[in-house]
Amino acid sequence: MKTIYDLDAKNKTILMRVDYNVPLRNGKVENDLRIRASLPTIDYLLEHGAKKIILISHLGRPEGKINPDFSLSPVAETLKKLLPHQKIGFYPLPEPTQKIEIPADVKIALLENLRFDPGEEENNPDFIKSIVEATNAEVYVQDGFAVIHRAHASTDAIKNFLPIYAGLLLEKEVKNLESVLKNPEKPILLIIGGAKVEDKQLLIDIFAKIADQIVVGGKIAADGYKTNDKKIYVAEDFDENAKGEKLDVGPLSTAKIAGFITDAKTIIWNGLLGYAEDPAYATASTITAEMIGEKSDAKTIICGGDTTGFVENLMETHQNLAYSLVSTGGGASLEFLLGKSLPGLEAIKA
Ligand code: 3PG
Repeated sequence: MKTIYDLDAKNKTILMRVDYNVPLRNGKVENDLRIRASLPTIDYLLEHGAKKIILISHLGRPEGKINPDFSLSPVAETLKKLLPHQKIGFYPLPEPTQKIEIPADVKIALLENLRFDPGEEENNPDFIKSIVEATNAEVYVQDGFAVIHRAHASTDAIKNFLPIYAGLLLEKEVKNLESVLKNPEKPILLIIGGAKVEDKQLLIDIFAKIADQIVVGGKIAADGYKTNDKKIYVAEDFDENAKGEKLDVGPLSTAKIAGFITDAKTIIWNGLLGYAEDPAYATASTITAEMIGEKSDAKTIICGGDTTGFVENLMETHQNLAYSLVSTGGGASLEFLLGKSLPGLEAIKA
């Protein structure tokens, strides 16, 4: 895979795909993990003399129509805060044949939500070609790891128009996830939580062949997940509310999970162990996050939107916690771990 280390960025106008599909609340970015995660690539390109970086992303699912609720404008505001020494321009998507005029002193520009045009999700080459032409882009940097499982114009059709280089975030995600699948250090522990068993069963099946230990917690366990596989431990006690709803993994199971974490050399955690939005039911997830984050003798990978958000919040108050990878990819990291072919990665290799 070609990465930006292979690119001579000097004086180049670079179109960079990022995944700024971030949660918004009251018109503000609620969690900026994905925005911060794109900064190393932006910094690298600027340090190596890039003339301009034009950032493109989607946000939500506006279904091909302009919809202010899905505007990337709050993201532009967050970028301004994160890059206080840069002028950041924010521009609507170009009409066909229209040029985007970016002043010389604006080195970083963000375009409006790609999914405001149906061409993005339809993987329409003309759509992405119009952006390439409007921006005079000379090279493409793919750093939107979280969207590489989609065959869209900015992940797939773009390969027909510009040479593509992987950004540093994409490289880091791929390297870390790959190392779990190829030659992982044993014992390997997979911790699965969350609510929907149908989302996780495939992962459990694949890891049943690779992992030494699998833990099933969260609502999946509370709903009575059954297995005959001896390496799968299903949480056995729960904290309940007054109505008898099982809302967190209980102390006995948490202690067992803690033991598995202590022994493991590779840990993948996907899905919260309880209803952690309510601090009363966040105990098992907190202990798990702390124990994994304090381990210095293991490769530790956190994936899935709820789990990464939870861990990120905890890291703000617990600065001693560190993980090999807090993945920005939801569906993308799962599909990667499931060994599926990812169109955005194939396009870089093409
Ligand atoms: C994600 O959040 O998983 C990515 O941004 C992809 O978004 P999508 O599921 O709407 O394609």
